[in-house]
Amino acid sequence: MNDQLERRIASQIEAVRGDPGRLMDVVRGVQAAEGWVSPEAIDRIAAGLRLPRVQVRGVVTFYHYFSARPRGRVDIRLSDCVPCRLAGADRVAAAFERALGVKMGETTHDGHVSLAWTSCIGLCDHGPAALIDGLPFLRLDPAKAEALAGRLLAGAAPRDLVPAVGGSLLDQVRALVPSNVRAEGPVVFGSMERGAGLREGAGDRTDQVIARIKAASLCGRGGAGFPTGLKWAFARQSPGERKVIVCNADEGEPGTFKDRAILVERPGRVIEGMTIAAWAVGAQEGIIYLRGEYDWLKPLVQAEIDARLEAGLLGPDAGGKPGFHFEVRIQSGAGAYVCGEESALIESCEGRRGCPRHRPPFPVQKGYRGLPTVVNNVETFCVAADLMHRGYASVARLGAGQSRGTKLYSVSGDCARPGVWELPFGLTLREFLEVVGGEGAIAVQVGGPSGRLVPPADFEKRLCFEELATGGSMIVLGPGRDLLEVASAFMGFFVEESCGWCVPCRVGNALLKERLDRIRAGQGLPEDLAYLDELGETVKTTSRCGLGQTSPNPVLTALRGFRSTFEARLLRDRDRGRQPDFDLAAALREAERVQGRAPVFHPEEA
Ligand SMILES: Cc1cc2nc3c(=O)[nH]c(=O)nc-3n(C[C@H](O)[C@H](O)[C@H](O)COP(=O)(O)O)c2cc1C
Ligand code: SF4
Repeated sequence: MNDQLERRIASQIEAVRGDPGRLMDVVRGVQAAEGWVSPEAIDRIAAGLRLPRVQVRGVVTFYHYFSARPRGRVDIRLSDCVPCRLAGADRVAAAFERALGVKMGETTHDGHVSLAWTSCIGLCDHGPAALIDGLPFLRLDPAKAEALAGRLLAGAAPRDLVPAVGGSLLDQVRALVPSNVRAEGPVVFGSMERGAGLREGAGDRTDQVIARIKAASLCGRGGAGFPTGLKWAFARQSPGERKVIVCNADEGEPGTFKDRAILVERPGRVIEGMTIAAWAVGAQEGIIYLRGEYDWLKPLVQAEIDARLEAGLLGPDAGGKPGFHFEVRIQSGAGAYVCGEESALIESCEGRRGCPRHRPPFPVQKGYRGLPTVVNNVETFCVAADLMHRGYASVARLGAGQSRGTKLYSVSGDCARPGVWELPFGLTLREFLEVVGGEGAIAVQVGGPSGRLVPPADFEKRLCFEELATGGSMIVLGPGRDLLEVASAFMGFFVEESCGWCVPCRVGNALLKERLDRIRAGQGLPEDLAYLDELGETVKTTSRCGLGQTSPNPVLTALRGFRSTFEARLLRDRDRGRQPDFDLAAALREAERVQGRAPVFHPEEA
């Protein structure tokens, strides 16, 4: 191993004080500096952190943004998500391929530039979008892609290709990615002085904080809608001197980017909510798990942590509360949707592959490093801070039924006003579409791929926990969109993102996609619909974590809402004898590709 790499790894290990739980940070450092993590680097990291080599290699091979093989010095990753595809990502991919002379997934022959698809990067309102060496490039089109590729091949650094902007850190981050907040509601985006919720609102009695959160019926905004007060109460009751608060900022569900806007526009409120939670449950340590794709906004969040330490809102006697010591650090992810699942997230924070844990015990009992741990969504912490600051009365007048207050939506797809919207709970989907300019929609994907594809017949349903619950992703699909193609793309996402631990999810999703694609290709049989239904339900009920328990939803909800669209693509009985189920020519081409052989004989040429 060369001396430079040796020194680099030693300094990374020193930076985390030799803590093996901080493996992710060490690997990230090596990946960023070297462009890959070589076998020698893996050996050295394992020895330095006193970890089994297999654990280090397991981590390097698990996360999309780590690589055990050399990549180009410049790394282009084009977002492979439905909103970006609707906006023309395929044409952008073709332009990059032409200009670089490589296919997606390849590196230029001089080892300079790598080009690849990557799962949704949270820039769906600015698509087609790409990350180049982690920097965001928005609203790409073929001409822009060719120009970018040309400059990169000529030796320009990605940093030189983003516009230089002066001003504050916030100005610079906003110039990289406009937050695109279309409606600022009073709860998350309303104004609040730094520390107001913690100093006065949270008061002296920790038990009263939880009572107030419970009284407001605050439910988590990360998708599952679990009551926040109950979660905090469980953590408070869990025995132990040391407890942990984790902010889940891993939003990776395609079509979701509301947390991105909150972290840029209101990072203080997120940390305020975390600090209030820590005060209520008796925690000392806070972690913001920030998805690797949002590295470009990390300095802004770090600056807010520093400012709050300076202002006495973090650290010893935080918020003027004697004996209350709370600190927050950022843990960066490295590209793995499953790490949004709270126990997988904790595994990742501890330096392992993001494989979900068996539950119980739940994180509130035994979470990060075995300590009682509260995991909440970015938005949930903001709402908690607002509740402490302004009280429940100001929120209660908004919303419908049990769903009070506001919800943030990430809106993308075929609508006039994509972006982030803070709206009161309880709008019907039809009213929502009018607000965002998506009146002509033929369907809306509510809650991302793990949610449901809602047909026009259900547009009178209300957006709230009781009817149409959503973590926030709203993808509008307009006339002419192929809903089976959309469902297939979502299934491809789950196939890619399954951690592979359990068979129903690892194999079942691939089988669902394969059968769906057969129908798309006009080769499906009527019995395939029952097969999809049955297999989908099996995957849902036998998978270990929320990923597999929801991954068949694109197929199942499309089948329920749009059965005639499937039926129209099926082989009719009279065609059965003539149409082969098996595409021999395609299979031969695939075999030739895998073997690297030249074509010999193709049945369609015979
Ligand atoms: C595959 C998968 C991905 C998830 N991704 C996220 C995420 O990105 N952000 C989030 O807050 N919750 C996510 N969740 C839900 C979390 O496990 C957890 O319920 C949530 O962070 C709790 O916060 P809340 O109660 O404030 O909603 C995900 C769950 C699954 C199964
Ligand atoms: S359901 Fe899928 S993602 Fe979840 S543990 Fe099983 S294989 Fe992993």
